[in-house]
Amino acid sequence: MTGRAPLPSWYDDLDGTLAACWGFLARGVADRRSGFHHPVISSIGLDGAPRSRVMILRGVEQDARTLRVHTDLRSEKVAEWRANPLVSILGYDAGQKLQIRLTGRVSLHHDDAIAESAWQSSRAMSRVCYGTAPAPGSEIAAGDAFTLPGSEDAEELEAGRAHFAAVVLHIDSLESLYLAFEGHRRARFSWNAGGTLTARWLAP
Ligand SMILES: Cc1cc2nc3c(=O)[nH]c(=O)nc-3n(C[C@H](O)[C@H](O)[C@H](O)COP(=O)(O)O)c2cc1C
Repeated sequence: MTGRAPLPSWYDDLDGTLAACWGFLARGVADRRSGFHHPVISSIGLDGAPRSRVMILRGVEQDARTLRVHTDLRSEKVAEWRANPLVSILGYDAGQKLQIRLTGRVSLHHDDAIAESAWQSSRAMSRVCYGTAPAPGSEIAAGDAFTLPGSEDAEELEAGRAHFAAVVLHIDSLESLYLAFEGHRRARFSWNAGGTLTARWLAP
């Protein structure tokens, strides 16, 4: 008995690794304890330097190769993505000993069916954030010099809809790193413009 966890069935299986990664990402939407529930999402800042921030993963569609997050249209990252839609996404789940790195392009949805459906499915406690005044990132005179709508006030909450954006992340590549005593496993999956997948192992 080594006391070590058994290796996953997909340890030496490229197709299985990709399927497992999509599965862990999908589970990360609802499972708050998953490391993939709150990935770090990076953009290129308006000054050309990288910018990273944690965002809650709200949706995963494996067939479409997309992830979805929500944000305030007034936030700096939105201006960054309007200038350069390239994105890097990073998650690590300590329980699964698995890091997933993705790259892709952002599409911003504010006044279409994607945004509306995302807004309708979001809870009052999430909607509150979109009513922040002044806008997120504004310099304020003191730490508490901002207001939020009351979470009980439907009319005030609805005012936040004007600032709400669903951000769809269209994935072009996925890289996994699984940590194991027996030997780490690193794999890269990339899709070309036509959607054809290339899968390969990499030295960890
Ligand atoms: C646990 C956690 C979850 C967060 N989720 C979101 C989110 O879903 N959307 C979002 O816009 N910001 C979220 N934030 C805040 C961002 O990390 C960031 O501070 C904020 O959006 C401003 O980023 P920006 O100046 O790059 O626009 C979250 C922060 C933490 C710590």
